[in-house]
Amino acid sequence: MNVVWLTSVAKGVARDVRDGALALAHLHRARGDHPGALIARDVRVRGRLDRLRLGTGVAVFGPSTLSVEDGGGLTGSALQIGEGTYVGEFANIRTAGAPIRIGRGCLLAQGVTIVGSNHGTGADRPIVEQEWHGDGVEIGDDVWLGAGVTVLPGARIGDGCVVAAHAVVRGRIEPLTIVGGVPARPLGRRSRDADEASAPVPVHP
Ligand SMILES: CC(C)(COP(=O)(O)OP(=O)(O)OC[C@H]1O[C@@H](n2cnc3c(N)ncnc32)[C@H](O)[C@@H]1OP(=O)(O)O)[C@@H](O)C(=O)NCCC(=O)NCCS
Repeated sequence: MNVVWLTSVAKGVARDVRDGALALAHLHRARGDHPGALIARDVRVRGRLDRLRLGTGVAVFGPSTLSVEDGGGLTGSALQIGEGTYVGEFANIRTAGAPIRIGRGCLLAQGVTIVGSNHGTGADRPIVEQEWHGDGVEIGDDVWLGAGVTVLPGARIGDGCVVAAHAVVRGRIEPLTIVGGVPARPLGRRSRDADEASAPVPVHP
């Protein structure tokens, strides 16, 4: 029993060291490929670095994960983050075989999760054995995602939207809408009128 336990611990340590070395190599390469972006040294970068595009002035704070990995039968991974977009600590952005596009000048607060695809959930096989499906995520320019927001596969968030803290976003959100809750529903709209700029205009269903 002890030998089995020691062997599995040794394998785990070896894997951890290998993953750590790979993550560091990926980080160095991503930094080299995107000299105009700031990627903190505790950001874990994984997968298809040839499909990672970070605009000038992008800042990704750590610890965070940027994963551009294919899998589950999907091969469309690509991650694009537009100029001047800020990604706060504890971000978890995973293409999972599908494209994720985040626009320019966005503010992603701490603890945001964005995922490009889902596992299949049929009852005939264990979930881990099922194909993935999903067509990625699109987030427009000037979008603010509050702390702890989750953006689900297939979400399309228009320019200028605000997503309240801890919301779970699915489907399409029209530009300039303020949304919140699980699943996220409209709470109001941003006004283009400077006098109303600090207050959301309520939505009347
Ligand atoms: C969305 C947000 C900007 C709205 O702020 P606000 O204009 O002051 O809004 P209010 O507090 O007046 O709330 C307006 C309505 O939205 C609702 N609401 C606000 N935040 C919500 C949330 N996180 N989830 C669900 N509903 C929310 C309120 O209950 C209220 O509803 P009501 O009119 O039915 O009573 C703010 O609530 C928020 O979530 N900010 C994110 C902060 C953050 O994560 N910062 C991290 C650092 S960048």
